[in-house]
Amino acid sequence: MTVDARSFRNACGLFGTGVIIATCADPSGAPVGVTVNSFSSVSLDPPLVLFCIDHRAFSRTAFRDAKTFALNVLADDQQSLADRFARASADKFSGLDYVQGHGGAPVLPGALATFECDVEAQYPGGDHDILVGRVAAVDIGPDEAKPLLYFGGAYRALAER
Ligand SMILES: Cc1cc2nc3c(=O)[nH]c(=O)nc-3n(C[C@H](O)[C@H](O)[C@H](O)COP(=O)(O)O)c2cc1C
Repeated sequence: MTVDARSFRNACGLFGTGVIIATCADPSGAPVGVTVNSFSSVSLDPPLVLFCIDHRAFSRTAFRDAKTFALNVLADDQQSLADRFARASADKFSGLDYVQGHGGAPVLPGALATFECDVEAQYPGGDHDILVGRVAAVDIGPDEAKPLLYFGGAYRALAER
């Protein structure tokens, strides 16, 4: 039995998520980043998280070779960053404020939270690579900050019940 690709994508889009910019430094130390929502916490002890990177992404090689990466969880006022890092561009960090975190992976100010990770493992996952990080540091943003959400192929805001 084969699953129709469009139905599969649509079904995946019905799982609401946050939005993350995964970052690392390339071998020359230049910042690399990509918008992802394939995040999961994996383990509490040790603290492990994962995300998946598409084989077609320009950033793939940099993440494959990196020893560290950071996962910046976006706040609801950071949609422009999500858009910027979801397009292939040689200069995604141009004019952008950031701090070099653990191993040089960029930490973005104003994020809800950032997980700074050492690469724990990499696994093949079909047309993606699965990158597992061991969390070396966490940075938590302002208390009142709200998340940028993604559902049904569109960005969303959190609504109170
Ligand atoms: C909300 C959202 C979630 C995304 N999640 C992923 C993801 O988990 N993994 C991935 O490889 N690409 C994901 N993408 C697509 C990449 O952001 C996009 O392909 C980007 O252009 C890759 O940049 P690069 O080619 O410079 O590496 C997502 C895009 C959006 C808008």
